Amino acid sequence: EDEANLEERPPVITIMGHVDHGKTSLLDRIRTSKVADKEAGGITQHVGAYQVEKNGKKITFVDTPGHEAFTEMRSRGAQATDIVIIVVAADDGVMPQTKEAISHTKAAGVPLIVAINKMDKESANPDNVKAQLSEIGVMAADWGGEYEFVPVSAHTGMGIDDLLETILLQAEVMELKANPNRKAKAVVVESSLEKGFGPVANVIIKNGTLHVGDNVIVGKTYGRIKAIKLDDGSNAKEIGPSTPAAIVGLNEVPGAGDELIVMDTDKEVRELAEKRAEYDRAKALSKSTKASLDDLSALIAEGQLKSLPVIIKADVQGSLEAIKGSLEKLRNEEVKVNIIHEGVGGVTESDLTLADASEHSVVLGFNVRPTGAVKKKAKELGIEIRTYTIIYDLLDDVKALLGGLMS
Ligand code: GTP
Ligand code: MG
Ligand code: NA
Repeated sequence: EDEANLEERPPVITIMGHVDHGKTSLLDRIRTSKVADKEAGGITQHVGAYQVEKNGKKITFVDTPGHEAFTEMRSRGAQATDIVIIVVAADDGVMPQTKEAISHTKAAGVPLIVAINKMDKESANPDNVKAQLSEIGVMAADWGGEYEFVPVSAHTGMGIDDLLETILLQAEVMELKANPNRKAKAVVVESSLEKGFGPVANVIIKNGTLHVGDNVIVGKTYGRIKAIKLDDGSNAKEIGPSTPAAIVGLNEVPGAGDELIVMDTDKEVRELAEKRAEYDRAKALSKSTKASLDDLSALIAEGQLKSLPVIIKADVQGSLEAIKGSLEKLRNEEVKVNIIHEGVGGVTESDLTLADASEHSVVLGFNVRPTGAVKKKAKELGIEIRTYTIIYDLLDDVKALLGGLMS
């Protein structure tokens, strides 16, 4: 990259930590919004990205879920960021996903800052947090270590300015730069199918400037940018480095974590997308042959086949992945979950056709609801559609179903 074209860019900060330690509340306090209050079950189940301004400097924040099911999202979050804020509740201390988040951060080689939250609580014990973290190699600067610890309270606002200043100081040291005058490169942090818009990708620009009208490819999906929506809901014609935005215009829902690149023509993006799809089909074909052989030998060894065929539909790609990951872990010697189909979007008639082809299959919808017509068809076919808004309710239900099959 030509030095002369490089300009300072805002830092991208990912917030991670154990479930309910106050990540979303902290961001709410920083943005003066109320996201946490509106979440189903009070837990974050997707990645959100927002930009704020402090002393005339912009900071981009990425919120991640703390629930144990979202390991993939946290891992991705650590990779697509400049700095990680590890949030630890002062009354609860270091917990499993605190450790997990620190591992992802260290693996990604990204600097981290610790925010000790809930300092307003009487049971707050920041020294305990410092002691616990020092045991796993994160020693506070005021204890002679190399990590900044900032005591905060999302509820009272205590320490928030300190936290923002610590972030800006760290960012300054890193001399983060990008070239706004080149074609954009971006990373997808979340994706979904939205009524009236079609596929929507939430991206953060890594380099260059993205414009409405650009021809883009994201994994195997492609299209011409129709609209760029900023986190405040307004539309933009173009966005530069480190800006988070939702983009509209792709032909399908891209995978979270995929990279977006801009190409000159519509023909180029189509051709590359087709090539990538072909490659994937070839790979899937070789894999599925192998899997069915494995299944067959297992079947022979057991003398019979027992499995629960499921179809999963979810509102966003990240949730789908988290559910898949958790379901795949729900295996035991007698019975397993067999995911016969998965996808982002509502439950459709074609999902029912698939479900109908296997015996005892169940359709699991996460944050999606079947239409009246689909419900009617399901009833006709005798297929059960179960819908959820909280991931552990879904998992509990599947466990119960497996229990039934085992008995
Ligand atoms: P997940 O995204 O589900 O992992 O949770 P989170 O880390 O985003 O936590 P969230 O913001 O949802 O807060 C969890 C609970 O802690 C809520 O009941 C908050 O009101 C409470 N909480 C968050 N910050 C503070 C704080 O500074 N002080 C006190 N007393 N409570 C807090
Ligand atoms: Mg949250
Ligand atoms: Na929560």
